[in-house]
Amino acid sequence: MQIDPPGTGLVMTRYDRPTVVLHWLTAGLVITLFSLALVWGLLEHGTALRKELQYLHISLGILLAIVIIIRIAWRATRGRHLASTATGIGKWAAKSMHLAFYFLLTLQIGSGFALRWAQAESFTFFRLFTVEIPGSGNKTLAHTLEALHDTVGWVLIILVGLHAAAALIHHYLLRDDTLKRML
Ligand code: HEM
Ligand code: HEM
Repeated sequence: MQIDPPGTGLVMTRYDRPTVVLHWLTAGLVITLFSLALVWGLLEHGTALRKELQYLHISLGILLAIVIIIRIAWRATRGRHLASTATGIGKWAAKSMHLAFYFLLTLQIGSGFALRWAQAESFTFFRLFTVEIPGSGNKTLAHTLEALHDTVGWVLIILVGLHAAAALIHHYLLRDDTLKRML
């Protein structure tokens, strides 16, 4: 809980609306980006559909970068911070998980952009504009970045699973307000 605005004595028990909207936008985008990579992984190299899914991954990736920049800026300035409902190790685990998300999301976005550049491929945003990048065309660098991007993608998805499970345990088993605060 947080007294907000300071000194008014009002007890705020929910995240503010922009934080909630940005949280669920992030969740939807991360899950979609990961699913797209899983689906194109099943398709033959060079097929039109595989290329389309990769273009969609880039467009949604650019959107995610914008959402994360706004989210971090909002959190650092006007976003409401609520104390965890957990205590002791649970509180520490929740804080570490949230910090890890911000770090891994930034790493994943950075490696995604760097990978596209290393592949010497264009950036396109829902066909509204396309930016041709001269790119490095460095295959070794592209392979290293692809391995990093793939690994971080999997780590993120595993942590999302744990995070979502924790939220559902709070809601259905512990019956506290943790999930409601983010709805
Ligand atoms: C890609 C998916 C997700 C990401 C990256 C993500 C990330 C985050 C982050 C960074 C926070 C901390 C908010 C802050 O203080 O800035 C948070 C809070 C929260 N998330 Fe998620 N989340 C995801 C999906 C989900 C899902 C699927 C659920 C529920 C089933 C969920 C439920 C919650 C709840 C309840 C909180 C508030 C926790 C508290 O107040 O201690 N999230 N999430
Ligand atoms: C959290 C968000 C993201 C997740 C979970 C994610 C996940 C993945 C995964 C699992 C792959 C397949 C890697 C492999 O080849 O084995 C991939 C490929 C790729 N991702 Fe992402 N990604 C995300 C964000 C981004 C962003 C923001 C960009 C850049 C705008 C990006 C650009 C790429 C590129 C260029 C590829 C390689 C496509 C190819 O094979 O040509 N990704 N991504």
